Amino acid sequence: MSHGIGIVGTGGIADKHALAVGQVEGAELVAVMSRSEERAKAFAERHGCRAYTSMSEFLDDPELDIVSICTPSGYHMEPALEAIAAGKHLVVEKPLEITLERCDAIIEAAAQKGVKVMGIFQSRFYDASRVLKETVEKGRFGRLVLGDAYVKWYRSQEYYDRGEWKGTWRFDGGGALMVQAIHAIDLLQWYMGRVDTVQAYAKILGHERIEVEDTAVATLEFENGALGVIEGSTAVYPGFLKRIEISGTEGSAIMEEEDFKAWTFAKEIPEDEEIRRRFSGATRTQGGAADPGAISLEGHVRQFQAFVDALREGREPPVDGYEARKAVAIILAIYESAKTGRKVKVDY
Ligand SMILES: NC(=O)c1ccc[n+]([C@@H]2O[C@H](COP(=O)([O-])OP(=O)(O)OC[C@H]3O[C@@H](n4cnc5c(N)ncnc54)[C@H](OP(=O)(O)O)[C@@H]3O)[C@@H](O)[C@H]2O)c1
Repeated sequence: MSHGIGIVGTGGIADKHALAVGQVEGAELVAVMSRSEERAKAFAERHGCRAYTSMSEFLDDPELDIVSICTPSGYHMEPALEAIAAGKHLVVEKPLEITLERCDAIIEAAAQKGVKVMGIFQSRFYDASRVLKETVEKGRFGRLVLGDAYVKWYRSQEYYDRGEWKGTWRFDGGGALMVQAIHAIDLLQWYMGRVDTVQAYAKILGHERIEVEDTAVATLEFENGALGVIEGSTAVYPGFLKRIEISGTEGSAIMEEEDFKAWTFAKEIPEDEEIRRRFSGATRTQGGAADPGAISLEGHVRQFQAFVDALREGREPPVDGYEARKAVAIILAIYESAKTGRKVKVDY
């Protein structure tokens, strides 16, 4: 059976979804929904699908059974709830939504209706990310001591000026953390486990005419007792690849996008040399460090494929709604701490 996928929104990431779906086995792009007839038609022509400007007509498309939400982050919930009510499975771009109440509304509505929700976190699907996850799960790092995420990126003032909603609390729900560093924050908590408490600063240091932070720093205490740091910025010229550092009593790894800058264990196994060789030049794009469009398609293709496979086999999707909510909960705790100056417990 082939799944019919429809996309809501016709912006930058919607195009990537359409291209990714084109490479997924067992799925086909069938429809697009836009606020504008012109944009709907142009998108449909580009990608070969049906064009809609009415949400109810879009949801009535006889071949549609998965809806992919590619609207501004603070406007994921409304189309998501309509799609759920129509019995469609959902793919939602990151962040799932910009408040925990809005995330929970999606998660609860989907559970009641019996449809599946997957939040996009394509970085989890890169080979290096998965090798690191498997190695953490095998316990090869010993006791986890430090877990850090560094996202020192660059976005020009024009980037914020261009988009009608970029850089606003209402639609972006935050800045360098909620929009850019969220991928690294999701990876960090995937490896290290739940963050218990955070203590943070957030500032606007390199831009004007934005409401949200362009730089934030947080110290973390994980539930397993390990400590860590999150640094996120869009004010750092020229922008560097995102870096995750996992350090334990028996080993350490530094992952820069898809490369390992360090991969060292007290008890080496034969595969370690192969891993160092394989992931020492694997990064093919700049990972969005300086250009929002410069992300590879591969992560999206793999995540869509995993979703379609899970539906076919009756399994839970790889990043379900609750899993996608975790990074949002951490980021909102960081914002709360930066605002109040207090240590804040993450609301899971
Ligand atoms: N996974 C990733 O790496 C990644 C990368 C970039 C973005 N994203 C996420 O994808 C989502 C969309 O981002 P984007 O960069 O694609 O944004 P974008 O280029 O501005 O596109 C958003 C689209 O949503 C539709 N839309 C519906 N209501 C809207 C409203 N009130 N204001 C503006 N647009 C509205 C618009 O399509 P119509 O006008 O045709 O209706 C617009 O083209 C965000 O949640 C973002 O965080 C994820």
